[in-house]
Amino acid sequence: MSETSASRNPNAPLAGRVALVTGAAGTMGLAATRALLEDGCRVALVDVQRDRLAALADSLGEHAAAFTFDIADPQAVREGHAQVVRAFGPIDILVNNAGILSNNKCEATDAAEWRRVLSVNLDGAFHLAQQVLPGMKARRAGRIINTCSLAAKTGGLTAGTAYSVSKGALTSLTFSLARELAPFGVTANGISPAYVKTPMITEQLSEAQRQALLKDIPVGRFCEPEEFAHVVRFLASPLAGFITGEIIDLNGGLLMD
Ligand SMILES: NC(=O)c1ccc[n+]([C@@H]2O[C@H](COP(=O)([O-])OP(=O)(O)OC[C@H]3O[C@@H](n4cnc5c(N)ncnc54)[C@H](O)[C@@H]3O)[C@@H](O)[C@H]2O)c1
Repeated sequence: MSETSASRNPNAPLAGRVALVTGAAGTMGLAATRALLEDGCRVALVDVQRDRLAALADSLGEHAAAFTFDIADPQAVREGHAQVVRAFGPIDILVNNAGILSNNKCEATDAAEWRRVLSVNLDGAFHLAQQVLPGMKARRAGRIINTCSLAAKTGGLTAGTAYSVSKGALTSLTFSLARELAPFGVTANGISPAYVKTPMITEQLSEAQRQALLKDIPVGRFCEPEEFAHVVRFLASPLAGFITGEIIDLNGGLLMD
């Protein structure tokens, strides 16, 4: 079933909801967008890749629209959020998924790289959360879903210092938002994937690193983007309302804790 026809179904679990997905031009963001469209949402796709984003939004039908802005820039986030609200109405589901990878460890990380990684992976989620919070609190409903990472707990098996720290802080931001929002019926949760089949894996790891990882991952394979999207749609669903401040591991058993 196409996203468009499914999203017209008034009985879809998220019919009529508005979702904003950052990093929607990327592999995992696009998978999450498709899942939310199938479940009945209208989806605002946010990314910095203007042309790719516009083409994707066009291909997804009338319930998807592209909004190009840099989530690391607070002014751009304020303006971008206002545009989304004008087009779709207030946001019910925020998926903070945009992120950039850096594999440099501490000694090799310069100040500019540190700031850039933190500004996208952490600050972006904070800026967007600030925009959606007042409306979610007032409506006493909402979902915030943050894409964290296994790197937050391992120090980065292959990922670098700035990336691992950014995802650790995003995990803490998730807990903090969950505590602030719980009395208002709004949940904040994270998903902590490891080694999803994306260019981060296929292009940024060596063949030797890939083979070593496959030996270490108990299920013996990498994660499908649709498996990530499935967790997003679950956390967004009405029946996930008692789950908040939770980080769901999605790592094929690589770390069991
Ligand atoms: N791929 C993995 O194995 C893996 C594992 C753990 C966590 N993650 C996290 O999952 C998320 C998605 O990863 P992916 O593999 O799909 O990566 P991706 O590179 O395919 O997608 C990330 C998207 O974010 C966008 N983006 C980057 N900076 C931005 C900014 N400042 N403003 C708006 N958009 C911006 C990029 O243009 C890109 O389209 C990231 O947060 C990543 O850290 C990925």
